[in-house]
Amino acid sequence: MRDSLAGRLPAFPWDAIAAAGDRARTHEDGIVDLSVGTPVDPTPASVQRALADAADSPGYPTTIGTPALREALVDFVIRHRGASPELGVEAVLPTVGSKELVAHLPFQLGLGAGDVIAFPHIAYPTYDMGARFVGAESLPVDMARLAAEGDAALPDPSAADRIGLLWLNSPSNPTGEVMDAAQLAAVLAWARRRGIVVASDECYALLPWTVDEVPSILDPRVNGGSLENVLCVYSLSKQSNLAGYRAAFVAGDPALVGELVAVRKQAGMMLPGPVQVAMTAALGDDEAPAAQREIYRARRALLEPALRAAGGEITGSQAGLYLWTTFGEPAMDSVEGLADHGVLVAPGMFYGEGGAQHVRVALTATDERIAAAAQRLQRL
Ligand SMILES: Cc1ncc(COP(=O)(O)O)c(C=O)c1O
Repeated sequence: MRDSLAGRLPAFPWDAIAAAGDRARTHEDGIVDLSVGTPVDPTPASVQRALADAADSPGYPTTIGTPALREALVDFVIRHRGASPELGVEAVLPTVGSKELVAHLPFQLGLGAGDVIAFPHIAYPTYDMGARFVGAESLPVDMARLAAEGDAALPDPSAADRIGLLWLNSPSNPTGEVMDAAQLAAVLAWARRRGIVVASDECYALLPWTVDEVPSILDPRVNGGSLENVLCVYSLSKQSNLAGYRAAFVAGDPALVGELVAVRKQAGMMLPGPVQVAMTAALGDDEAPAAQREIYRARRALLEPALRAAGGEITGSQAGLYLWTTFGEPAMDSVEGLADHGVLVAPGMFYGEGGAQHVRVALTATDERIAAAAQRLQRL
């Protein structure tokens, strides 16, 4: 009898708040949906034009990307992720979305049954899915503790020998916590001593609020000037309102990038040609993400005091698109209470047991909807 993969996966978390969503939709002034981090502002006009101009695309694109895109990726990680100016095109690879990359990286690295995949204990759920897809064991780890205490941070230190891949996510979805350069360096050094690949998911890096910097795994202060066993995973979805284009990339150890290219050439995971052109334009446009950040800053400035006025305590949330908030009660009670006022948020346990008393409040709604949410929260 076939043991279906779908049957072995946990229920899709968002189904659990469908009823709260239905209730929020009955609010007389409509729902304010802050439960998902999907951008709502326009894709930059320059990127839309580049896509349209590249619409005639009869031939297959390449897996590694056009020369112009590869150069744009290199320039971007040098400008924005602290990568060494010596980084070459063999260290970068465009990918179809980063969710897809996160879900399939264990497979593309050859990991499977018997291997362990570690990820932050409160985390974006796709790291766990990627482990499940290949039959590997999932290991949630408090990465700040791992940086400080090494092996002692693991529930079972003997598991360290079986870890093949370790995910970092700074700024974090959902907590918005940022790891500093010393913490990243400590985790990387610990992993390298064990031959573990470290993949650092950094897609919220251009949205810092209360920190001076969001260091990258590509930064020589973190990796000691070597990219060995290092991958930076990055996405333009959030910073450039490009979620619909599925424009993302990995950058790091040329040997690992070469492995991914070899697998992906066989598997057919090329980024569509017109999207390659649009992505090249987006990577070269620093003004659009800077302007978008100011839009989110204003939304955050409305929502943060309103959540506090409603009795919420905000923790983490140093960067990124979410306010990680606790009302000192089980997360579903908060979700339901806010849904009564037409505001839908995500319960923290979607992201791990550590989120049991938190809700994740996204900044991704229009100015008008954010203002409506702030008003409702102030009145609570
Ligand atoms: C931490 C993290 N990684 C990856 C993704 C996926 O982004 P995309 O697939 O749009 O590139 C998200 C999206 O919410 C995320 O929060």
